[in-house]
Amino acid sequence: MDTTYDINHVCILVTGSSGYIGFNIIQYLKTVVDSNVKIIGIDKKPGPETTKCIDITNTIRLEEVFEDHHPTWIIHLAALIQVGESETEPEKYWHNNFTGTFELLKCIKKYNLNTKLVFASSAAVYSDRETLETGLTEGISQLKPSSVYGDTKLSCERLIESYCKVCSLNATCLRFFNVGGGVRIGKLRHLIPIALNCLKNDQVFNIFGNDYDTEDGTCVRDYVHVNDVAEACYKALIEMSEFLVSIPRSFRACNICTNIGTSVKQVLATIEEVTGRTLKIKEVTKRPGDPGTLIGSTLIAKSYLDWTPKCTLKDIIEDEWLSLKRCN
Ligand code: UFG
Repeated sequence: MDTTYDINHVCILVTGSSGYIGFNIIQYLKTVVDSNVKIIGIDKKPGPETTKCIDITNTIRLEEVFEDHHPTWIIHLAALIQVGESETEPEKYWHNNFTGTFELLKCIKKYNLNTKLVFASSAAVYSDRETLETGLTEGISQLKPSSVYGDTKLSCERLIESYCKVCSLNATCLRFFNVGGGVRIGKLRHLIPIALNCLKNDQVFNIFGNDYDTEDGTCVRDYVHVNDVAEACYKALIEMSEFLVSIPRSFRACNICTNIGTSVKQVLATIEEVTGRTLKIKEVTKRPGDPGTLIGSTLIAKSYLDWTPKCTLKDIIEDEWLSLKRCN
C-alpha cells in the first residue's frame, strides 16, 4: 500500500457539482470523509454544493482553482448528457464535454500534483448489441457509440489515457449506466423522473419507440442507484491512491451498472406498482441516437474496486417519488 497520501489532507475537486449526480456524490463524500477534507464543487451554474461558478472550458478560471486549492483527487462529471440533444446540437457537446476535459487535463499536467482522476464516462460508449447473457464488458471490441454524446465520452477516455502516459496522473473512467434515485435536483430529463412527474400531474407519458429488438419492443437499460455510483467513485479514488506505487500512471475503464436489464415498459409497470397509481401512456416515434439494449457486466468493478451495487430499481423509484413529492 502507498503511504504517501493522507486522506485527511486531500482536496477533492468535483466538476459538475450543480448537477444531479454531482450533488448526490458530494452528499455521499461528506458521510465518508473526515470533516477536515476540503471538497470543492465547481459548475458553470450555481447549486447547493457548488463552491465556485466557473466554466471548465475557461482556462484562466480553472487554473485559479488549481492555484488556490491544489486538488489531488478529482471527480470529473461536468458534461452535457442528453443523447437526443447531442444528435441535433453536436458542437455544444464537443465543446462542453471534450474541450472541458482537455482544459482540465492541461491543468492537471501543469500543476503536477500526482492527481487521481475519476472520469464520469457512460454506457453510451458501447454499441447496441445482444447483451442479455453476460452484459457488456469493457473490451475495445464493444466500443461503438451510437450518439454524438457517446462519441464525446469515448474521445475523452482516449484523451485521458494519453495524458496518463505523460504526466503524474492515475485515472479511472467509470462508465455509468442509467443513474437514478437519491435526491433529484435540476431539470427532469430522464425516464424515471419524467414518468413520475407525468403521473403526479396527470399528464401523458411518451414512450420513444416500440419496435426495438427487445422482448416488448421498448428500450432495455441497466438502472443503477446514485448512492452506489457515489460509492464507486470513492472506491476508485482510494484504490488509485493505495496502488499508486505498484501501478504508476495507471488508466482503467470500468462499468458501473447492475447487470440487470429493464425495458421502458417494465420500468413504467414498477412505477405504477410503487406509487399505486396508473400512468397514461402514448407510444411515439423513436428518439434519435437511442440504442435498443444496454446492460453492463459488473465483473471488472467487482475485481478492481470490490464494488457491487446494493440498491434495486424499486429503491431508485421510491427515492425519486419521495424527492418529487417533497418538491411541491
Ligand atoms: N424514454 C422514453 N420517454 C421519455 C424519456 C425516455 O421512452 O420521456 C426512454 C428512452 O428512449 C430510453 C429510456 O427511456 O430508451 C431511457 O432514457 P433516458 O433518457 O432516461 O436515459 P438514456 O438511456 O438515454 O441515457 C442515460 C444517460 C446517459 C447514459 C445512458 C446509459 O442520460 O448519460 O443513460 O445507458 F449514457
